[in-house]
Amino acid sequence: MIKEPILKVSNLGISFSQYTKGLKRRDLTVISNMDLELYAGEIVAIVGSSGSGKSLLASAIFGLLPENARAEGEIYYQGMCLKQRDKEKLRGKEMVLVPQSVNYLDPLQKVGKQIAISVKNKANRAKVIENLLNKYNLASEVAEYYPFQLSGGMARKVLLATAFAADPKIIIADEPTPGLDKDSLKEVLKDFRELANSGCAILMITHDMEAALTIADKIAIFYAGTTLEISNVQDFDNQGELLRHPYTKALNRARPMIEFTPIEGTQPFADELPKGCLFSDRCSLKTEKCEKERPAFREIREGKVRCIYAT
Ligand SMILES: Nc1ncnc2c1ncn2[C@@H]1O[C@H](COP(=O)(O)OP(=O)(O)OP(=O)(O)O)[C@@H](O)[C@H]1O
Ligand SMILES: [Mg+2]
Repeated sequence: MIKEPILKVSNLGISFSQYTKGLKRRDLTVISNMDLELYAGEIVAIVGSSGSGKSLLASAIFGLLPENARAEGEIYYQGMCLKQRDKEKLRGKEMVLVPQSVNYLDPLQKVGKQIAISVKNKANRAKVIENLLNKYNLASEVAEYYPFQLSGGMARKVLLATAFAADPKIIIADEPTPGLDKDSLKEVLKDFRELANSGCAILMITHDMEAALTIADKIAIFYAGTTLEISNVQDFDNQGELLRHPYTKALNRARPMIEFTPIEGTQPFADELPKGCLFSDRCSLKTEKCEKERPAFREIREGKVRCIYAT
C-alpha cells in the first residue's frame, strides 16, 4: 500500500496586492511553486533565511493569510483539498499552529484559560494544564498570570503547552525555540520527537540548523519563496556529500561544525527575482542555461531538488 501524506502543499503561490507611488496597484509575488509533503510520524524542518516565506506557508495552511494576499495552488489534508472553511474547522483541533510571535496570546485572558481551550478531556483539565506548565519548569501559579506577566521564554512555553494540549494530528511550529533556556529547549525538542514517534506529523520552522538536524527526519530548504531542496536528514552527514543543491551545500558548509564559511550575497527581493534559477546570482556553478527558466522540482535519490545540474 502506498502511504499518503497527511498534509500536502502543491504548487503554492502567494502574492500581495500593493499600492505604490502615484496609487498604482501592483502584485508582488512572494511565494511561487512551493511544494511540500508531510507524513504522519515524521518531523520535517523548514530552514531558510528571513523572508523566504516560511511563516506565509504556515498562514496559508491555517487559512490565516492577510486580506490583501492572493493564494494559488492546493493544500491537501488526508487527501482532501482544503477550502477556507475546512482550514478554519481543523485549526486548533486536528491541526495546530505554534505561532512565531508571542503576541498571538490573548492579552486579556489568563494563561490557564488559554491553554484550557485546547484541552479535549474537559474532566481533568486543571491537572492537564498544571502538568504541561510544570513540564517546562513553569510554576502552577502561572495559570493565573496574564500574558503581560510572562517573559519571552515563558510566553513561548505557554504557546507550546497550548499546542500540545490539543493532542493534534499535525503541529506546525513557527520558530518555537527562541528565548528558551537550554534545558527547556532540550525538553521541547524531545517532546516534538516523542509526539512524532507516536504518530503526529510535525512541521518545524527554524533558523537553527543544529536543532533541525537533531530531531528532524527531513529538511526542506526554502529560498526566496520556494523550496530548493528536500532531503533526508542523513544526507547532511559526512560533510553533506549526498546533498543536492549548491545552496544547501553552502548552508551546510556554513555550519560551525563544518567549515563555518558564510555564503556570499543575499537572497533576491520579491520584486527583483531572476527569471531563471532563484539562486543563480550566488551560484558558482551558474551557466547561461540556469538563467533561462526556473528549474523544475525533480526527484533524486529519495529527495527533491530544483537545480538542473544536481545529481
Ligand atoms: N502582509 C504582507 N504584505 C506584503 N508582503 C508581505 C506580507 N507578509 C509577508 N510579506 C513578505 O513575504 C515574504 C515572506 O515573509 P515570511 O514572513 O513568510 O518570511 P519568513 O521566512 O517567515 O521570515 P522570518 O524568518 O523573518 O520569520 C517577505 O518578503 C515579506 O516581506
Ligand atoms: Mg517567519
